[in-house]
Amino acid sequence: MDKLVVKGGARLSGRVKISGSKNSALPILAATLLTPEKCVLHNVPDLSDIRFMLEILAQLGSEVTFENGTVTTRAPKVKSETPYDLVRKMRASICVLGPIIARCGRATISEPGGCVIGDRPIDIHLKGLAMLGAESRSEGGNVYVTSKELVGREIFLGTKFGSTVLGTDNVMMAATRAKGVTIIESAACEPEVRDLADVLVKMGAKIVGHGTRRVEIEGVDGLGGCEHTIIPDRIEAGTFMVAGLITGGDVFLDGANGDHMINVIDRMKSCGAELKCSGEGIQVAAPRKLSSIDLVTETYPGFPTDMQAQMCALMSVTPGISAITEKIFPSRFMHLSELRRMGAKVDLEGSTAIIHGVKELSGAPVMASDLRASAALVLAGLVAGGTTEVNRVYHIDRGYEHIDQKLRALGAEIERVR
Ligand code: EPU
Repeated sequence: MDKLVVKGGARLSGRVKISGSKNSALPILAATLLTPEKCVLHNVPDLSDIRFMLEILAQLGSEVTFENGTVTTRAPKVKSETPYDLVRKMRASICVLGPIIARCGRATISEPGGCVIGDRPIDIHLKGLAMLGAESRSEGGNVYVTSKELVGREIFLGTKFGSTVLGTDNVMMAATRAKGVTIIESAACEPEVRDLADVLVKMGAKIVGHGTRRVEIEGVDGLGGCEHTIIPDRIEAGTFMVAGLITGGDVFLDGANGDHMINVIDRMKSCGAELKCSGEGIQVAAPRKLSSIDLVTETYPGFPTDMQAQMCALMSVTPGISAITEKIFPSRFMHLSELRRMGAKVDLEGSTAIIHGVKELSGAPVMASDLRASAALVLAGLVAGGTTEVNRVYHIDRGYEHIDQKLRALGAEIERVR
């Protein structure tokens, strides 16, 4: 199993190319199942989660190629049963459900189990599909969904934690082929949901209001092929922003879209970060001293839960007391115990991490528990005294393209040990 060995202390500077968004690419790849025609997607990041999704598409009957960041798919026929072994490896595979139901009228998918970042039910996905006319039952660890005909309706898709990203995606994709008009209230507004809707529109879907809380979809008889470029990954950009700040560095996030990161930029500026957005990307410069922060994760345009762990790492070496509250996945704090092993002073009160910034962290062997937690540990390692070994790196490879190479190009001392 690979590990990342980081020697702390280097100041990062230079330019880093931000990859295509994982969380846009995954549902967009699933959407290609909606059409028998050719789809061409550019700027697809080469990540293990993307490879899983391509395998799922292939096993469902799609002809898939992936070369130099471009995926081509053609799915003349689609099977309704998803391969358990692949689906269980990646929770995001649930987003094939909407397209399969729309295309085949039935779908079998293994029910996602527990997850290290917290409870991740799919009740709202199923509720939305049920309102369109797709009945579901659970049996033997599988969910069986069938529909004679999908019919558009007004659907409230909120959860007690706000809107659901992949739930909105699933219902929106199924609704493109439903009879009549579907209105999704309390829809997720994340840029990734909007990117998916843009692709569906290119395929011939009739959608308005995407990117807002109310999305209206008028069903059509069939969808065609498309060509699309995936938006830049705002979470990768935010992670490299923290890498620049935590090392007192100066980094240009090439291709990052500041419009997708308004809240992150605002919060970083409130801590003293110097950030300049342009059409080309975002320039990040660390001030002489950062200041502590109070922040709460929320659905878009609020502060993203996928940046919470990285902020905990940054605040663990920022003077003062920070309070970071997690509202989307209230128990997504596995990184705290590992940060503590590196010398961070952190208490968890309910869903709020209270962080007393320390002068120095010290390198230690640590264990990655999920994608963003592993990113936080690498960030902490960049500034810690001595050497940090981040084990179980496969978590980070799910969502960060060549993170070690990109950090090394900015001046970090980081090696992947196989
Ligand atoms: N929820 C329900 N019922 C549902 C669906 C969701 O109660 O049927 C709850 C969840 O338990 C959670 C909240 O609603 O408390 C929001 O979850 P959401 O459905 O939005 O999460 P998701 O769509 O499964 C996507 C991202 C996650 C990201 C979340 C929140 C992808 C592939 N995944 O997951 O990304 O954290 O939205 O923004 O887009 C990551 O990249 O590291 C990652 C975990």
